[in-house]
Amino acid sequence: MLNRAKIAIIGGGNVGASCALWAASKELGDIVVVDIPQAEGLVKGKMLDLAQASPVERFDSTITGTTDYADIAGADVVVITAGLPRKPGMSRDDLIKTNVEIVRSVSQNVKQHAPGSIVIVVSNPLDAMVYTAWKATGFPTDRIVGQAGCLDMARFKTFIAMETGFSVEDINALLLGGHGDDMVPLPRFTSIAGIPVTQFITEARLDEIVERAKKGGGEIVGLMGTSAYYAPAAGVIQMVEAIVKDKKRILPCAGYCDGEFGIKGLFVGVPCLLGGSGVEQIIKIDLTADEQKLMDASAAHVAELVEVVKGLYPDLA
Ligand code: LAC
Repeated sequence: MLNRAKIAIIGGGNVGASCALWAASKELGDIVVVDIPQAEGLVKGKMLDLAQASPVERFDSTITGTTDYADIAGADVVVITAGLPRKPGMSRDDLIKTNVEIVRSVSQNVKQHAPGSIVIVVSNPLDAMVYTAWKATGFPTDRIVGQAGCLDMARFKTFIAMETGFSVEDINALLLGGHGDDMVPLPRFTSIAGIPVTQFITEARLDEIVERAKKGGGEIVGLMGTSAYYAPAAGVIQMVEAIVKDKKRILPCAGYCDGEFGIKGLFVGVPCLLGGSGVEQIIKIDLTADEQKLMDASAAHVAELVEVVKGLYPDLA
């Protein structure tokens, strides 16, 4: 018998619920959203509400809100969204103390209840939280990956589309490095329908667009007082879709580098081949000296945060 994919989402807040919505509307599989006991009514209510949209939006999916980790048994993919979002004036790094504790404990539950799953981490500070989930689950590195590049790239493409008036569908880009402010843009790989973007946008203006994309998360926190969720969740579901449909997509994700791009033993944004087994390959590209410098700086920042994680929880060292 063939089974639908099972997608577990940990955390039923704005990002988690939006992930459930995108996953359901794309009919990617059965969905379980887990939240803490204090949020039991909310997560159950939200998921019942989403299930009741299915006859209208026409998706067949079992959608469950729960506080019991036993319900994630058999999940093919687990998305970890649990943790605090940013408030105005906060950097992602300011969340590390609280979120490492949450992600560590969630990951221990994932290890126990869904030991065969592929884990996608979304909690911030992203790259350090992927490391945390890796250590706390003990999963092989091809089954642990972080979502950040899909979001950063989506922001970059959105701003290019706004600038040029061309369809978002025709814009192609590639980014590397840590999430957000730390990202490493690669304008030479940015094109519109295959045409180099510099034919449409001056380099100076492109630099401004890159800056806006880097600070795109902060722009939204400034506007609404909390972190973004529609686009972050869309980025997650792009990855989930690549996995459950074994699409072999090349997407910028926080993947484990074992020497690639001169980075060793860290999860940093790199082009990942995503398919049914998770991160099936890290796609290597030759960087220019300037790009490598940015990548080194980005990795150094991730390494600093990982040291903080290890300091807080020696079992994650
Ligand atoms: C952002 C947060 C979710 O970039 O990291 O919006």
